[in-house]
Amino acid sequence: MPVDLTTTFSGHTFRNPFMNASGVHCMTIQELEELDNSSAGCLITKSATSSERAGNPEPRYVAVPLGSINSMGLPNAGIDYYMKYALDRQANKADSEPIFLSVAGMSVEENLKLLRKVQDSAFNGITELNLSCPNVPGKPQVAYDFETTKIILTKAFEFFDKPLGVKLPPFFDFAHFDAMAEILNQFPLTYVNCINSVGNGLYIDVEKESVVIKPKNGFGGLGGEYVKPTALANVRAFYTRLNPSIKVIGTGGIKTGRDAFEHLLCGATMLQVGTQLHEEGVSIFERLTKELQEVMAEKGYSTIDDFRGKLNSL
Ligand code: FUM
Repeated sequence: MPVDLTTTFSGHTFRNPFMNASGVHCMTIQELEELDNSSAGCLITKSATSSERAGNPEPRYVAVPLGSINSMGLPNAGIDYYMKYALDRQANKADSEPIFLSVAGMSVEENLKLLRKVQDSAFNGITELNLSCPNVPGKPQVAYDFETTKIILTKAFEFFDKPLGVKLPPFFDFAHFDAMAEILNQFPLTYVNCINSVGNGLYIDVEKESVVIKPKNGFGGLGGEYVKPTALANVRAFYTRLNPSIKVIGTGGIKTGRDAFEHLLCGATMLQVGTQLHEEGVSIFERLTKELQEVMAEKGYSTIDDFRGKLNSL
């Protein structure tokens, strides 16, 4: 039976739901072009700040047995660099589906300034406001502050009328799922992305009796297998709480087609891959699409809509 992975999101049709997670393989134009020429359905840029940032000292990303730990500290080439890439691509590949542009300000004002820049540009893609970077020393993850999150979204939607999503940190309590969903439902968001890394984990090298990354005395965001159950829980919690017009992007622990199937079953529409993309490179997208098609064929599904969100309870 033919299996169709095409995915409609924000009015566009992507050939499959897979894309990179912001932060992985998307810092430079060369990496972005490699993604664009891969089997990924779409791509997103590294979260941009107003100006270029060097980020935290190295080592700042380490692959560990069940995933990764990182404290990159938002190294990026600055909004103008990613905006130019996006606008050049729009001009040169006018027939292609649009991309996602990620922005992450260090303050309410910077977030609004970045969004204003996107609004005032000719960018015709989807913007992701990253409210969840755990790795900038002295700057807590914005979305753990519910009041500030509401203020940013209120001010943003006073002028921003392009498709906008937010990248959320993981939440761990039903009271927090409820409270955040109640805020998000007040805004015309295109999507929420669940989850960013599980912030401030600590990985220890027993031989050396040492942490493995330099910034923040070794504390860093966890990705990979460690986080999949938390990611699935957040996808499910927001899928079942948000207005149906707000889609959910599933990010966290996608290593195989079965992992992708689980995210879709929980209600995700698009799927982002971070740690395993870092391990395998862009050829991962060919493998994942093939594996997801195999799982769907085994189960007799011909489209993702046949099973999206239809997770059984006991
Ligand atoms: O440290 C970083 O650059 C990570 C950013 C993020 O997780 O959003």
